[in-house]
Formats: sequence, structure tokens, C-alpha cells
Amino acid sequence: MTAHLRRRVDGALELRVNGVFVMDDAEASSERLLAQVVLDLGARDVLVGGLGLGYTLRALLDGGAGRVIVAEVEPDVVRWFADDTIPGGRELAADPRTAIETGDVRDIVAAQSGMSLDAIVLDVDNGPDFLVHDANAQVYEEDFIQQCAVRLRPDGHLCVWSMADSPAVRGRLRQHFERVETHEVPVRLQGRQESYWVLRGSRPR
Ligand SMILES: C[S@@+](CC[C@H](N)C(=O)[O-])C[C@H]1O[C@@H](n2cnc3c(N)ncnc32)[C@H](O)[C@@H]1O
Repeated sequence: MTAHLRRRVDGALELRVNGVFVMDDAEASSERLLAQVVLDLGARDVLVGGLGLGYTLRALLDGGAGRVIVAEVEPDVVRWFADDTIPGGRELAADPRTAIETGDVRDIVAAQSGMSLDAIVLDVDNGPDFLVHDANAQVYEEDFIQQCAVRLRPDGHLCVWSMADSPAVRGRLRQHFERVETHEVPVRLQGRQESYWVLRGSRPR
């Protein structure tokens, strides 16, 4: 896969992978909310799937997280933080609480010990129905949701960013978590009012 970063004519910083739009910095409220939801529930040790432009990581660090493991599959994205190509990236990467690991989130979750995390937040793709990478379909499947659940402490949380609400993902979360909630995030996109979604499972069974 090839990642590209470019400054658009409207001034926004845009991340593309294999030519497909992944995100920009024009609207990042849902990426920040992903962090805020788990911080508000008391999470301190958090694993993030997908570094992107770093909004979720920054919000976690600014909100007082104690340790943040970030799984990022694109080595270029990791490098752009280390050399500050992504503005402010070096500071986020150098924070002693940050551990950026280059690799697939499925492998990096699998490498964590059982009951070692307060929260896992996943923002590696657009949600199960709008995939950028077909291989990421597994991230929304029950096997991986279970893998996440067993790595969470008894009061832990799994949050999944999605471009649309997903009854299928909510149903799978219900299999492994006591409580399932949805957070709708209103966003203004190219003059239109839309919503992004954070689907949350709390307290693994
Ligand atoms: C939408 S961005 C994440 C945005 C991030 N929440 C932020 O605040 O900027 C998705 C990121 O996940 C990465 N990614 C995609 N598939 C992945 C996978 N299977 N494992 C780890 N990272 C992945 C992409 O390269 C990209 O950097």
C-alpha cells in the first residue's frame, strides 16, 4: 500500500492510501470524540487502531491518558510523525506515554496481554459497509471483537468509529459486552449536514 499526504488548495491536509481518500484535517470532531468517550469513562491505558493525522492520539494525551499504544499499518504515516511532516507529530510520537507500533491492528491487539487495557478504540477504516481496505472487514467481525474484549479490564470499553450506524456491529458487541451505546457525531461535510458514529461496548462479559 502507498500512503500520500498533500496540502489541498483549500489549505486542508489530506491523507490518501492507494489513491483513496482516508481523511483530512478539515473536520476532526469524531476522531476527538473517540478519545473523549473513553476518557470520560475513566480509561487511562488505551490502544488506538489507526494513527491517521493523530487527532485521537492527541485528544487522549491532552485528556490525561497514562499510556497510549497506537497500531498503524502504513510505515510512511509513522515516519511522518517522527519527522514532523504531520505538524506536531514529533511531539506526539515522543511523548513518553505514546508507543506507536507499525503493523496491523489485529496483530498488535493479539500481542497484548489479557485484561491489560482500559479501552481499545478502532478507527482504521470507514466502517463495515464502506471499506477502504477489504482486509479490514475482519476488524468488524465477531472474532476480532472477542479478541479485543478479552484484552480489556473488567470495566473496559471497545469503541468503533463508523461512517454509518451499524446494527450488525452493535449486535456483535452485544455478544461480548454488557452495555452497548451509540454516539452520533453531527458533522458538516462540503456544505451538507451528516453524521459519523462511534459504537461502544462497555464492560466485557
Ligand atoms: C481514518 S485514519 C485514523 C484517524 C485517526 N483516528 C486520527 O485521529 O487522525 C485510519 C488510519 O488507519 C490506518 N490503518 C488502516 N488499516 C489498518 C490496520 N488494519 N491496522 C492498523 N492501521 C490501519 C491507515 O493507514 C490510517 O492511518
